[in-house]
Amino acid sequence: MSVALAVLPTPATIHCKSNSPMANSESQPRAETEPAPIEPIQTQRLLLRTFVESDAPRVELLLNDKEIASNTRRIDYPYPVGGGAQWIATHQPAWQAGDSYIFAICPAENPSFLIGAIGLEINKLDHNAELGYWMGREFWNQGFCTEAAKAVIEFGFETLGLRRICSEHITRNPASGKVMAKAGMTREGLRRKHVRKWGVFEDVIIYGMLSGDSRR
Ligand SMILES: CC(C)(COP(=O)(O)OP(=O)(O)OC[C@H]1O[C@@H](n2cnc3c(N)ncnc32)[C@H](O)[C@@H]1OP(=O)(O)O)[C@@H](O)C(=O)NCCC(=O)NCCS
Repeated sequence: MSVALAVLPTPATIHCKSNSPMANSESQPRAETEPAPIEPIQTQRLLLRTFVESDAPRVELLLNDKEIASNTRRIDYPYPVGGGAQWIATHQPAWQAGDSYIFAICPAENPSFLIGAIGLEINKLDHNAELGYWMGREFWNQGFCTEAAKAVIEFGFETLGLRRICSEHITRNPASGKVMAKAGMTREGLRRKHVRKWGVFEDVIIYGMLSGDSRR
């Protein structure tokens, strides 16, 4: 999300479990047989739920922000009118196909109030996924994204049965790297001029985590 150099929003992709992780390297991710259950995830301060149509105006409000667009792969600025509804409409089919799982981030006490998004884009072949996210500007630097990332990483490993979750950020976006590190991911390296954003080729830093790594 993906959305890390965030794949969001455009359809993200992901995978899936049964109630237990994939047993061995021969087992198949859940998405190939049945979709993961669409259940909200509760954390200490947040509720992570699926997006609904009525989130569209807030998606457009929060994402019409040049800094968010600048740090993400597929978000443009200005954010297009109608783009929120268009994006949200992709979520359920992608979820059903096991291609991606995107959650709306909301305060636990106000589950209809959207403050951000986080998701996993699945690579079925390799049983891994890319984590992506964004938060509305007024909610930055309060630990919300880290809290959501930890929960979605847990979902990816325990519910989807993934073996690896990775993410990447443009070097000029250290806040995102902080989220990855605080969520327990390990910095794995740097890809030179790996992405092109608004016509400029930029270096990205890769983070990754394996299902057996400590999640504290
Ligand atoms: C990246 C983003 C999702 C982080 O969300 P958040 O809720 O503010 O994240 P958290 O509060 O959990 O953690 C942010 C950390 O970055 C740190 N930080 C913020 N700006 C920073 C900067 N310029 N340099 C270094 N660290 C920075 C914060 O201090 C915090 O670390 P701390 O808890 O050790 O103090 C948010 O800034 C955002 O939406 N940015 C635009 C979209 C984006 O970059 N998406 C990810 C693409 S890879």
